[in-house]
Amino acid sequence: MHKTILTAFALTFPALAQAAEPGDIAAARIGYYSLVNLEMGGLAAMAQGKAPYDAERAKALAADLKVLSEYLHDDLLMPGTSNAELAGKTRALPAIWEQAEDYRAKGMAFREAVATLNGVAGEGQEALAPAVGKVGATCKACHDSYRAKDF
Ligand code: HEC
Repeated sequence: MHKTILTAFALTFPALAQAAEPGDIAAARIGYYSLVNLEMGGLAAMAQGKAPYDAERAKALAADLKVLSEYLHDDLLMPGTSNAELAGKTRALPAIWEQAEDYRAKGMAFREAVATLNGVAGEGQEALAPAVGKVGATCKACHDSYRAKDF
């Protein structure tokens, strides 16, 4: 029974049936941050007045960002997937693994800023803007230490 299910699963998702390859992990990580960036982009546009403020849309974007910020992405931090090992395929610096606790703390700061944002996203552009700014500062703080400028 189990075997049948696994076989069916392997046929449907061949990539998942194999052990994760370092290059696939890096690609998934970039995909994760691309989603973060997409939701943040919509919020930043409203915060900066480049898009009209819309309470329902702001709440929806903030809620999606919250889901992403709570996604425990340890799987995306497999050792052997920094830009030292996968040159040209990732911008993740080896410092992530050398200073794992600080990296985690920067991730928690991001999560907390997003939680705060969710509390005010529906309360008008003037409430949204500073909260989005605080989230943006947590993105930058992490990138400054842990993301290479180029691939
Ligand atoms: C805890 C650390 C951390 C936080 C917080 C963080 N990032 Fe990143 N981000 C990274 C790392 C590391 C990479 C490089 C991933 C790779 O290349 O493997 C990255 C990559 C990216 C990329 C590049 C994706 C690509 O196409 O190469 C974008 C865009 C991005 N982040 C946006 C954001 C935004 C916007 C936020 C905040 C809303 C954010 N990140 C928060 C660590 C972080």
